[in-house]
Amino acid sequence: MKRILLLFLALCLSPALWAAEGMWLPLMLKALQDDMQAQGMKLTAEDIYSVNQSSLKDAIVSFGGFCTGELISDEGLILTNHHCGYGAIQAHSSVQDDLLTKGFWAMNKEEEKANAGLFVTFIVRMEDVSEQVLKGIAPDMPEAEREKLVAARIKEISRAATEGTHYGATIKPFYYGNEYYMFITETYEDVRLVGAPPSSIGKFGGDTDNWMWPRHTGDFSLFRVYAGPDGKPAKYSPENKPLKPRHHLPVSLDGVQEGDFTMVFGFPGRTQQYLTSHAVKLLMEQTNPHRINIRDKRLEIMGRHMKANDTVRIQYASKYAGVANYWKKWMGENRGLHQLNALQDKQALEAQFTAWVQQNAERREMYGNLLNRFAELYQQQERIGLADTYRREALLGVDLIRLGSSFAPIASGSMPATDFTTQRDRYDAALQRHFKDYNVATDKELFVDMLLMYKQNVPSEFQPELLQKIDATEAAVKAYADKVYSQSILSSQKRMQEMLATYNPKATAKKLRKDPGFVLARAIQDIYEKEVAPVFASTDPELELLYRRFVAGLRQMHQDKLFYPDANSTMRVTYGIVDGSTPQDGVKYRYYTTLEGIMEKEDPSNEEFIVPQRLKEIYQTKDYGPYANEDYMPVCFIASNHTTGGNSGSPVIDARGRLIGLNFDRSWESTMSDIKYSPEICRNIAVDIRYVLLIIDKFAGATHLVEEMTLVDEAAATEKVELLEVD
Ligand code: ARG
Ligand code: ASP
Repeated sequence: MKRILLLFLALCLSPALWAAEGMWLPLMLKALQDDMQAQGMKLTAEDIYSVNQSSLKDAIVSFGGFCTGELISDEGLILTNHHCGYGAIQAHSSVQDDLLTKGFWAMNKEEEKANAGLFVTFIVRMEDVSEQVLKGIAPDMPEAEREKLVAARIKEISRAATEGTHYGATIKPFYYGNEYYMFITETYEDVRLVGAPPSSIGKFGGDTDNWMWPRHTGDFSLFRVYAGPDGKPAKYSPENKPLKPRHHLPVSLDGVQEGDFTMVFGFPGRTQQYLTSHAVKLLMEQTNPHRINIRDKRLEIMGRHMKANDTVRIQYASKYAGVANYWKKWMGENRGLHQLNALQDKQALEAQFTAWVQQNAERREMYGNLLNRFAELYQQQERIGLADTYRREALLGVDLIRLGSSFAPIASGSMPATDFTTQRDRYDAALQRHFKDYNVATDKELFVDMLLMYKQNVPSEFQPELLQKIDATEAAVKAYADKVYSQSILSSQKRMQEMLATYNPKATAKKLRKDPGFVLARAIQDIYEKEVAPVFASTDPELELLYRRFVAGLRQMHQDKLFYPDANSTMRVTYGIVDGSTPQDGVKYRYYTTLEGIMEKEDPSNEEFIVPQRLKEIYQTKDYGPYANEDYMPVCFIASNHTTGGNSGSPVIDARGRLIGLNFDRSWESTMSDIKYSPEICRNIAVDIRYVLLIIDKFAGATHLVEEMTLVDEAAATEKVELLEVD
């Protein structure tokens, strides 16, 4: 009752502050504390982010730079998604010992598996450095000059902030460079694989269920951070010790109820909340439809080859998942943008802005030509849009072409022998990685179809002459493919390695100039640099400037409103409540799913919906231990947190700072939230932490891992609340 009253009061007093929408920098939360508490939070902003004492943020890491993870024990145990650990799990897999299919559980620390290249990054502190970065920079300073000055200052501020420490510093622009924030980071490079369920749990539902609710995926995996003997970051060594983190999240056994406060802490990658109508139109009408079509074809080809051959299935598992993921996301995004009338909304906002600008001379001076200029610049980008999309998605979607492009400096002879020697290992490693997951027949078929699509869709003025000369028929492109794949060393690991072993700038370049694979990669690069790149080079910086003004203008126009900065892979907090939704006419989503639903979806003939025998036993005997509700075993739930890519692996935290779930996705109807969020429709999807515990404990028998965690229930929590509760 008290909570409802508070909520009601908060809504009446400050409607603008009700903020299910928004991804906030932890240091901005002081302004939102009242709103968060009105929604049920029992913590203070200082409990979430503090410079001086340990706080929630100390338990959160950027996982490998592409996902989020959280510390869940005082021995460095990290929880993230299965799809975030996927690359690492795949790297330890082979046809004989397929950890993706079987799952993996280290029964002691000796069995944990090291992962070259994987790292986790903590945020030590963050700071508003806008004043230092922008001192003396006038709004009309030419963009190139401004960029130079800003870059130099960023370098200097970062240096001063980290000198003599092992910390890193990142300074990034916010609100298109109206503000700048610095993040002091600490990166650990010894991160070991501890546990992963079989894909039949970790990826249950596969691509069919991806981006969908109702969902039944146990999308989690476990890692452990190791530190040197002094507790500081260290390269992998058997001597390293599990890290003792400043904070780890207690794990709640209490479960979730509709209406419960939740927050999601993590590293969301990119949103574009302030795009103008011109950009949204371009995205909806050109970019998305074409890249969806291209990926349709790539998926069809890869999928067919994977089905026919077990080796290819493992080799292409990660690539396929990656391609499928955004393919489906873009389809949902377009659908959602239509449903929300995003384009009309943007146009209405722009009309309102224009009216506001017209109100006085000063605004007219500052913003008068802004929207016209946006229109002109986006028109220029539209002209090269298809050339750009087809290069990126179709041509570079062919492994042979991508490899050729990444070896361009070697092929052109522009790399001196001394540089080559220092970079030799890097090239060697790239080759190993590339060919480990490479199948010539699959790639060649991709090559043929991607080239065909490219030829059919890209205006010929943007096609390299080499390709213009080939007929847009399957026979002609196939004949060309035969030539490339039989003659180019790019299709053979052995011949590529020989080339590296005998490298000599001049002689190698001379040879490669006749290699049809390198010739093609080169031609694609040349036409891009001649026709496409210059357009971006002449429009992007100005767009950046226009957005900076536009957002500044919008903030001035709506001074009562808190504007959140677009996601940019920096640490953010978003909060909402556990809640079902009505995403489409006639459809109602309940807020949770259960083990019952896994059994309903079971289909032994479909790889995506196999239920492991052991899980069925647990279901049949109801051997749920302390992890079930009175009448069901929970699996996933949804809430109204505003999340995006990169928030995968983020903890879903309750009102008291306890872990209740693991974020891993959004419902399909929510995928437009990167551009336009809707509190009624948008829901993030989390796996219920109790299902994670059930799998670790009862399914895998890795009880020692559960024992390492700090499990809490209502009784234990009350104590903590007394410490933190604020009236
Ligand atoms: N859609 C989720 C995200 O964007 C999960 C992707 C992994 N799962 C998959 N079936 N491909 O990352
Ligand atoms: N699945 C996404 C991720 O990997 C999360 C999302 O886009 O909602 O970060």
